[in-house]
Amino acid sequence: MTLQSLFPHPIIQGPMAGGCTTPALIAAVSNAGGLGSMACSLLAPDAIRRQVADTRQLTDKPFMLNFFVQDPPHPSAEEVARAVKLLKPVWSSLGWSELALPFKWCEDFAAQFAVLLELKPAVASFTFGILSAAQVQQLHAAGIYVIGTATRVDEALAWQNVGADAVIASGTEAGGHRGTFIGDQRDATLDALALLKAVVAEVTIPVISAGNIMTGADVRDRLNLGAAAVQMGTAFLVTDEAGIHPAYKHRLQIAGNAPTRLTRAFSGRYARGLVNRFMEQMEAVEDQLPPYPVQNALTGPIRFEAAKRGDTELMSLWCGTGVARARRMCAAKLVETLVAEMAGHRSIN
Ligand SMILES: Cc1cc2nc3c(=O)[nH]c(=O)nc-3n(C[C@H](O)[C@H](O)[C@H](O)COP(=O)(O)O)c2cc1C
Repeated sequence: MTLQSLFPHPIIQGPMAGGCTTPALIAAVSNAGGLGSMACSLLAPDAIRRQVADTRQLTDKPFMLNFFVQDPPHPSAEEVARAVKLLKPVWSSLGWSELALPFKWCEDFAAQFAVLLELKPAVASFTFGILSAAQVQQLHAAGIYVIGTATRVDEALAWQNVGADAVIASGTEAGGHRGTFIGDQRDATLDALALLKAVVAEVTIPVISAGNIMTGADVRDRLNLGAAAVQMGTAFLVTDEAGIHPAYKHRLQIAGNAPTRLTRAFSGRYARGLVNRFMEQMEAVEDQLPPYPVQNALTGPIRFEAAKRGDTELMSLWCGTGVARARRMCAAKLVETLVAEMAGHRSIN
């Protein structure tokens, strides 16, 4: 099975956790000839089964399931208490006298992996960590095409070594979380073009470029640099079918030159989004926060309450540096537009 044989247009709608990737979005992209993808990391096994069934009602084309490779954390009571205290300026601003603690820190990846083998989507992708060669073989035995995420060249080589079929080269411009799993997240500093060129030079498997791809001309440029396909997140985040809060979508549409930056304030892992009050209030203590998923689970009730109130200053407004170029339309129209632009674009290389 080759990447090109799975979907006609070299455009992947990036997985986006937090309810963004609705069955309607995934199916619209796959039906239009791209590859739709479902972010499964925050979903329990039954929710994954339900969303896959709903998506299969809407398309018979291939789509991708995406997961965070992670082990359950075991923070000490002191670590949790310290993190809650560091967050106090934010949760007390909501009028709360305490922060409710979560029932669990994250979903069980082993259980999600079992569901993945059971559901057998055409494609699965992974981030935040790496599978073992044995896990990749299990996926292959189930007929699943395996894609890893890399933010550095050695991560791309590591995915190739465990038998991945393709690798996503995710530059620093990309919206949402950095997938870094080798070394300090702050050391994965290559932008999308530099990373693409470096990874293409080192690996033999297909490379998918991600980060600041907003138009068909951008897609064509990445293909000219050796990418087999592109993965786009922010561009799809403003489409009609993306399941984000309307106030968040509106902030993206009016972003203009509003700055984005990487922060670990919301989740404990560096992620890119529009700068807002939450990020600014936590900036001074960012280095002291517990790692993902503990910080992510602790800030869950704050973000949930902010969404209820429509307060974008306390939501995580994940998006990439290309947000000013995002165009509101339906997802099928976006794929069609990108394909038309790709055909019309003449490379200057
Ligand atoms: C809101 C949001 C959530 C994301 N969640 C995930 C995720 O769950 N898994 C993943 O592999 N990538 C995730 N990403 C990364 C995207 O799939 C994609 O690679 C990235 O957005 C590409 O960069 P761009 O935003 O500049 O297009 C997310 C991105 C955004 C904006």
